Amino acid sequence: MARSPPADMPLVTFPDGTTVPALGLGTWTMGEQEARAATEASALSLGFDLGMTLVDTAEMYAEGGAEKVVAAAIAGRRDRVFVVSKVYPHNAGRKSAISACERSLKRLGTDRLDLYLLHWPGQIPLAETVAAFERLRTDGKIVRWGVSNFDTADMRELFALAEGWRCATNQVLYHVGERGIEWELLPWLREHRIPVMAYSPLGQGALLRNPKLAAIARRSGATPAQIALGWLLQSPDVVAIPESADIQHIRGNRAAATLRLDPPTLDAIDAAFPPPAGPTPLSVI
Ligand SMILES: NC(=O)c1ccc[n+]([C@@H]2O[C@H](COP(=O)([O-])OP(=O)(O)OC[C@H]3O[C@@H](n4cnc5c(N)ncnc54)[C@H](OP(=O)(O)O)[C@@H]3O)[C@@H](O)[C@H]2O)c1
Repeated sequence: MARSPPADMPLVTFPDGTTVPALGLGTWTMGEQEARAATEASALSLGFDLGMTLVDTAEMYAEGGAEKVVAAAIAGRRDRVFVVSKVYPHNAGRKSAISACERSLKRLGTDRLDLYLLHWPGQIPLAETVAAFERLRTDGKIVRWGVSNFDTADMRELFALAEGWRCATNQVLYHVGERGIEWELLPWLREHRIPVMAYSPLGQGALLRNPKLAAIARRSGATPAQIALGWLLQSPDVVAIPESADIQHIRGNRAAATLRLDPPTLDAIDAAFPPPAGPTPLSVI
């Protein structure tokens, strides 16, 4: 990236050595209403100004509408933002993925994606998707690629392919209330040095109303959102991508990047939200 994130922003390193801020921005519900698009784009711009210069979107979100909101937010600063988008599984074929990516690039107003993900495992053979991703990469339309909603067996299947090792990340549901990946998937990804992108890090907002989290937050003098995000950011290989169109929430979320959770707080989180006690299939939204 042309300009580095602020010094107090934790970084996560992709397998190719590229670093990104550990706190990025989600866009799932953006671009659905024309009247809200400008507010949403300003919220993303504020997040970028504050150093959360990674944005996660998808062709699925508002059927391209979210990518258009991202286009407005990255205009004039494309080189300083790490742009992630995703292809629908039914568009992830040898030829269809190329066209889907080109449509995303057009909506985003850019010539390349920093990261392109298969949104979830689908019916099209993985080898075809990987071949398309590799073609996009060598053509310069994407810089790297990865997957989303892949459980450990899916990752093994991917790594059995010749170019599977090029996978840069797996974006999965992960927050204090959803810790199932800690049993097998997260250790597997760590062994292969693949960072995780934690989606719905605030449990789509519902987690913030959890009384146990609220009590921990009160004792720590932080907000529930800051505890939830700060907890994810304790891991050096986890990128959290909370979504917000509210500027106060974005400022508050940014402060989580500098939060250091002390051992008693981490113990209280483990007691209230225990890690998995056995194999747990990947939860998806
Ligand atoms: N790969 C996948 O399959 C997948 C699936 C789901 C999500 N994702 C990605 O992950 C991103 C984040 O997940 P998500 O949108 O599902 O849920 P989330 O980030 O866990 O929660 C978003 C909700 O929390 C609220 N919020 C954010 N900050 C807050 C704060 N400080 N205080 C109070 N409320 C706050 C937001 O409302 P306000 O706007 O009012 O702040 C919004 O309603 C998505 O936008 C998307 O980019 C990927």
